[in-house]
Amino acid sequence: MSERLKTIIKMFDKCNSAADIGTDHAYIPEMLIKNNLCKKVVATDVNEGPYRIAKNYVESTGLEESIEVRLGNGLQPVALEEVDTIVIAGMGGILITKILDEKITEFDEIKTLILQPMNAADKVRKYLHEKGFCIVDEEIAKEDYHYYELIKARKSSKACIYDKELFYETGRTLFEKKHPLLKKFVENKMRINSEIIHNMDKANISNKKKEDLKSRNEEYREVLKSYGIE
Ligand SMILES: C[S@@+](CC[C@H](N)C(=O)[O-])C[C@H]1O[C@@H](n2cnc3c(N)ncnc32)[C@H](O)[C@@H]1O
Repeated sequence: MSERLKTIIKMFDKCNSAADIGTDHAYIPEMLIKNNLCKKVVATDVNEGPYRIAKNYVESTGLEESIEVRLGNGLQPVALEEVDTIVIAGMGGILITKILDEKITEFDEIKTLILQPMNAADKVRKYLHEKGFCIVDEEIAKEDYHYYELIKARKSSKACIYDKELFYETGRTLFEKKHPLLKKFVENKMRINSEIIHNMDKANISNKKKEDLKSRNEEYREVLKSYGIE
């Protein structure tokens, strides 16, 4: 099982019923049931191909009683009352926010979201805060050279907002819990920023983007230090 999938499963609390949106192979539902984390999982996919693959796979594992595979776009095939946890993993961050937006007014403080955007995680964090959710936990999973970001969130009566833009780029919870992969994750971001700065220097380019990248790297050094991550 991949580190990414293992980490998604690790983020689950015990649940009565979960929905896995964009299930593809239905590995996440299988693990949730086999690990006794959820009693029931609704697995959905918008595309006929993955829907069939998921259906056949569930049948091959003999878990049809616990995993129901449905065809449809985003949250449409699921009534939110029937689930307490929703996982949306392996899709772009913007697509994840679009899927959530279809039923955003129907969420309550009991439902848990587990999101694993493949990109634009900053946009997902911002969207959640704008819509009255708090980020209650975050994880990083590393596979080969790639880092995956996982976000767990719940609707909240108190407003959640980050005072630093940096925490939308790299989740504040990761600093608070001194995540073991955080230092390398941040160093990787800083290295990419430094490479861009270096290339701009070589091309004699001076603009706001270059200054912003320099400031961001400086800010990362300060924030790591302030959380005692050195
Ligand atoms: C890369 S797979 C990820 C599979 C699995 N969630 C995982 O994390 O391993 C993305 C899946 O999302 C499905 N998908 C894309 N857009 C969707 C949407 N709007 N609603 C439901 N499923 C969608 C695709 O058909 C595909 O099977």
